[in-house]
Amino acid sequence: MRPAALALLAACSSGAPPPAPAQAPLPADPEVREVAPGPLRAGRVAFRATCQVCHGLYGQGDGPAAAALHPPPADLTEPTRADAWTPARLEDTIRSGVPGTAMIAFEDQMEASEILSVTAWVHTLPAGGT
Ligand code: HEC
Repeated sequence: MRPAALALLAACSSGAPPPAPAQAPLPADPEVREVAPGPLRAGRVAFRATCQVCHGLYGQGDGPAAAALHPPPADLTEPTRADAWTPARLEDTIRSGVPGTAMIAFEDQMEASEILSVTAWVHTLPAGGT
């Protein structure tokens, strides 16, 4: 059990009100590295909910829907690809999509703050992610 959960249990049994969790817990996944709560973690949660189906858990372009897509989902971990990324361009791609591919515009599907945090997380992928 994680220390946070233990602290929560201890707080409950002593009658004190439990502290509100800062963010929803991450989906159970033994491979997941811990990321401190904040935009990067929020970005990873949003990526898993919205992007993982095509781009895969760690952005390698190997999600369950990938095999059926032409062109295939981008491997977001390729360092050469990241050379062309600025935060603004990356955000714009996510916001507007890539016409003629399965990469739709996400500006109507996600909150602006979610797009920002998912941009921040994707930006870490070529360097090994978080
Ligand atoms: C339905 C499948 C699908 C989903 C869902 C999807 N993508 Fe994509 N994505 C693609 C495909 C296909 C491409 C490749 C387009 C191309 O070949 O130019 C792509 C390309 C991209 C690129 C461009 C990479 C580059 O440098 O050219 C980025 C960034 C990206 N996706 C991020 C995301 C993020 C973030 C999400 C979630 C908000 C997401 N994608 C969800 C299919 C998907």
